[in-house]
Amino acid sequence: MAKIWAGRTAGEMNAAADEFDSSIKTDKRMYRQDIAGSCAHAEMLAHCGIISQSECESIVAGLNGILAELESGALAIDPAAEDIHSFVECELTNRIGDAGKKLHTARSRNDQVALDIKLYLRDECDTVRGYLVSLIEELAAKAEKHTNTVMPGYTHLQRAQPVSYAHYLLAYAQMFMRDLLRLKDALARMDKCPLGACALAGTGFAIDRRYSAKLLGFSAPTANSLDTVADRDFCVELAAVFALIAMHLSRFCEEIVLWAGAEFAFVTVGEGFSTGSSIMPQKKNPDIAELIRGKTGRVYGDLTALLTLLKGLPLAYNKDMQEDKEAIFDSLDTVKLCLGVFIPMLSSIEPQPANMLAAAQKGFINATDLADYLAKKGVPFRTAYKICGEIVSYCVKNGCVLETLPLAEYKKFSPVFEEDLYADIDLKNCLAKRESCGGPGPNSVRAQMKELKAELEKYK
Ligand code: ARG
Repeated sequence: MAKIWAGRTAGEMNAAADEFDSSIKTDKRMYRQDIAGSCAHAEMLAHCGIISQSECESIVAGLNGILAELESGALAIDPAAEDIHSFVECELTNRIGDAGKKLHTARSRNDQVALDIKLYLRDECDTVRGYLVSLIEELAAKAEKHTNTVMPGYTHLQRAQPVSYAHYLLAYAQMFMRDLLRLKDALARMDKCPLGACALAGTGFAIDRRYSAKLLGFSAPTANSLDTVADRDFCVELAAVFALIAMHLSRFCEEIVLWAGAEFAFVTVGEGFSTGSSIMPQKKNPDIAELIRGKTGRVYGDLTALLTLLKGLPLAYNKDMQEDKEAIFDSLDTVKLCLGVFIPMLSSIEPQPANMLAAAQKGFINATDLADYLAKKGVPFRTAYKICGEIVSYCVKNGCVLETLPLAEYKKFSPVFEEDLYADIDLKNCLAKRESCGGPGPNSVRAQMKELKAELEKYK
């Protein structure tokens, strides 16, 4: 296929090299952004008197025609094209002739590709934002119903202290809130328009970079032309945001896999999100949660690929950078795919409060409350801790729990114990009194929920 750069060489490449060099398979998805960028560039050129108004009109009409035909399917992107930029330019020139050949005045594919990626990611990140908002809303809606549903909280995967199911769900909501904030931050840093940096050294034409930046919805043009065409920090930052989202989903999925199993039996996952076994008739497997956990690996891989790709690249543009799109698009696609299935799976999950409570009752998770009881009555906490440790050990040996150990037995460990200890170690009370800011007590959780919802409004 004829190259837009034929001249210095005849543009005839070795077939294998030509195919190797082409990025059309990956960058064709940016056709809308490429066309929008070209329209803005043409308008800027006309505004500055570099091309005529009628040339600009013919370019914009030609580009809009190409866009409409690509959208309707009347025009197909040529798989033999070098990249989306040359495909659009060649198509335009075929349609409108010389005016099309003027479009690339004061522009290079180097600033063009940086622009296209930014525009594409800006659009796509809005979908990710929407998913995160829905996910947090779903978590809050579920949490609302379970502020009094006691379950064990864990450290070292050992039962530790009582929390509520609502508190657990809101812990994940906080992680996804941070992801929303990170996404917003990364987008804010990406809000500078590359157009006009040209190949690396700007241009001698009297262009107006602020004009095209404004047309494309950027706050300003980028500051330094060399940096502009060499910069892919925004890809790395977004890949890191996606890696964190994937990590949060993966941790959640790990718990779902554990909780859905008979050993925990804390939740059931909807049948629509479970699969069976080809040999074991009894199986209901949490494949979807496992697969989301598994896909996290490739999202991390994409981040590593980007960082490694950029490490050691001299300024400014190098062809290595063409590899950026496969990595950032894969991490974006994977995270969108995972969020798109995780949210409905979450809606299908039903907690099993009786099993959660039973697990909470078996784990001596009120032992801290027992120590606190003594501490409140003046026993130094470290002494109280030791006494209660001995009581737990006694219960383990004798097959009982703190709630069922008679007062007479308690008195053998400390004369300070009285009948009122039982109220202090009742699990519902243990949860209810943990009202410290950020704690699992129902009022504290409701306060967290209120703040979370107010915060979420800012991202809608
Ligand atoms: N396909 C290229 C990329 O994705 C576009 C920029 C090409 N620039 C160049 N000087 N060869 O990076």
